[in-house]
Amino acid sequence: MCGIVGYVGNKNAQDFLVSGLKRLEYRGYDSAGILTLSDDGKATLIRAKGKIANLEEKLAKLKRSDTIGIGHTRWATHGEPSERNAHPHQAGPIYLVHNGIIENYKELKKATNGHEYQSETDSEVLAALINSFYKDGSHPLINAVVQALKLVKGTYGIAVVSVLNPDEIVVARSGSPLVIGVGHDETLLASDASALIGHTKQAIYLNDGEVARLTKNSVEIKTLNAEPVSAKVEEIETNLAAIQKGGYEHFLLKEIMEQPDSLVETLRGRVNAEEGTVRLGGPGLKEAELRKIKHLIIVGCGTAYHAGLLAGYYIEKFTPEITIETVIASEYRYRQAYIPENSVALIVSQSGETADTLACLREIKQQGVKTIGIVNAIGSTIAREVDGGTYVHVGPEISVASTKAFTSQVIAMVMFGLTIAQAKGVKRTILKPYVEEIAKLPEEIRKVLGEADQEVKTIADKYNGYDHAVYLGRDTAYPIAMEGALKLKEVSYIDANAYAFGELKHGPLALIDDRFFEVAFLPEGELYEKAVSNVQEVLARNGHVIAVTNVPRFDLHVENVVKITTTLTIFAPILMNLVSQLLAYYVTVAKGYNVDQPRNLAKSVTVE
Ligand code: AGP
Ligand code: GLU
Repeated sequence: MCGIVGYVGNKNAQDFLVSGLKRLEYRGYDSAGILTLSDDGKATLIRAKGKIANLEEKLAKLKRSDTIGIGHTRWATHGEPSERNAHPHQAGPIYLVHNGIIENYKELKKATNGHEYQSETDSEVLAALINSFYKDGSHPLINAVVQALKLVKGTYGIAVVSVLNPDEIVVARSGSPLVIGVGHDETLLASDASALIGHTKQAIYLNDGEVARLTKNSVEIKTLNAEPVSAKVEEIETNLAAIQKGGYEHFLLKEIMEQPDSLVETLRGRVNAEEGTVRLGGPGLKEAELRKIKHLIIVGCGTAYHAGLLAGYYIEKFTPEITIETVIASEYRYRQAYIPENSVALIVSQSGETADTLACLREIKQQGVKTIGIVNAIGSTIAREVDGGTYVHVGPEISVASTKAFTSQVIAMVMFGLTIAQAKGVKRTILKPYVEEIAKLPEEIRKVLGEADQEVKTIADKYNGYDHAVYLGRDTAYPIAMEGALKLKEVSYIDANAYAFGELKHGPLALIDDRFFEVAFLPEGELYEKAVSNVQEVLARNGHVIAVTNVPRFDLHVENVVKITTTLTIFAPILMNLVSQLLAYYVTVAKGYNVDQPRNLAKSVTVE
């Protein structure tokens, strides 16, 4: 998920490697490292935890003039952020940097028993595997890389060098981007073209399943099946900001649109749709412990809290005799709440650093309750202090408004709930529909984003002048209403609030007048008609209603309807949330506000 750079040419490799990593630092990272080789194959490996400035500090003390090297910024997935887990990783004469996840690293590790492991990473296993085929240079490096990659399951973007052949870099990709910069007597490599700007305008974008051998004046590409690939040299887009945002105008839109792919990373290796089962290794709870669970406390703030609310609604639908309470961390930590026997706490946090959530975690642990993290940032404080956990693996979430993390947090918690239900012997026929829909969700998200994007932009142009909004939903659409209201208010500063449909008549209905527009979520199902009558109460007060629904024959007369076409029923509310995310984005862009850094807010609230 992070950054790779490489250089082979006549200039000082270190200069490009460091400047390139700094260009990639927007991709988020927790540690970094570079490896350079002298002409006679002497390797210099420098790695540092934290900011790239820490790496630079170390490098300042040993300016090298090597002309070949590789570098990496890490967004940890296996093994906490640390110097010894930072890349490049060594295996005999070779050094490797890797972006992605080697799903079957444990199995592959068994095939590398000659290697003395220095780290906890999946990447080092790949280095050792390549070396097991490289046989100290008796085989071409590229052949050893190909043989190893044929055994890999997962995603990778890699660069590999050998002290035995210090004039070539072997690179390969499957799922993590790599772009090759073609210079004059030099060849450069980076995860995206932003690192190449100022060095060359000529780029070759490697495709999945391709492997290449780079020297200072050649680029040879082939497939893993040894079919030659003719390199297509393209002109580099030189707008740095545009590249860093993946071509999107803002990180928020990029992260909304990334959700099909980021959810795939969350599900990777955890879902078996054919069997109708899920497998979560992280929580580390044995079958007997799972069976005993009687009470779940789900703790979070903001979007993480909403994710917990929604997950709680789902879990109680398929798990028998479990009570679930979802609490706001900043409230719960000051309560003297009784925690019943056989409780487990889910601690939900994208950043893993939120002070209120961390404080809650510590309070709950003190009461001897098992804590399970639902976290994105590997090795973050919460991730290190929980008893077990499931990483959501959505990659860095840069925009303050959380989007892709929400979707993956909900599903990760539902998968935890399914794990409990499986252990409790809940019938496969009850659980399988959830698992099947989870497996379909990434592509359904991709479809809805494609269909709704421009439609929501048009609607946003009509409503961005309002100062007030109300989001309405019932059952699993109620936490979606809450999340939608939060999205809109935190980026557009419109006073948006959410109410359960059934609560309208208990007060909020008094608010409705021309100052407000309403977003009403109407998922198909047994509560649909009730929601329709609630919307009619709003319409009777001249409500300006935007209806979001997956009901094919929606015939209520409202100002706007966003139709969600999907085969999903259970997780349709997750798809409806995409409309809220897009609406918040386009309204804010229309208002000309700073979409990624809203006023008064921070991405990780590490203060109480
Ligand atoms: C969500 O869009 C907000 N940025 C905020 O509510 C956020 O969800 C909350 O601060 C919790 O952050 P965490 O998930 O990193 O703990
Ligand atoms: N899975 C590798 C690790 O945890 C690479 C992570 C990344 O893409 O930065 O080290």
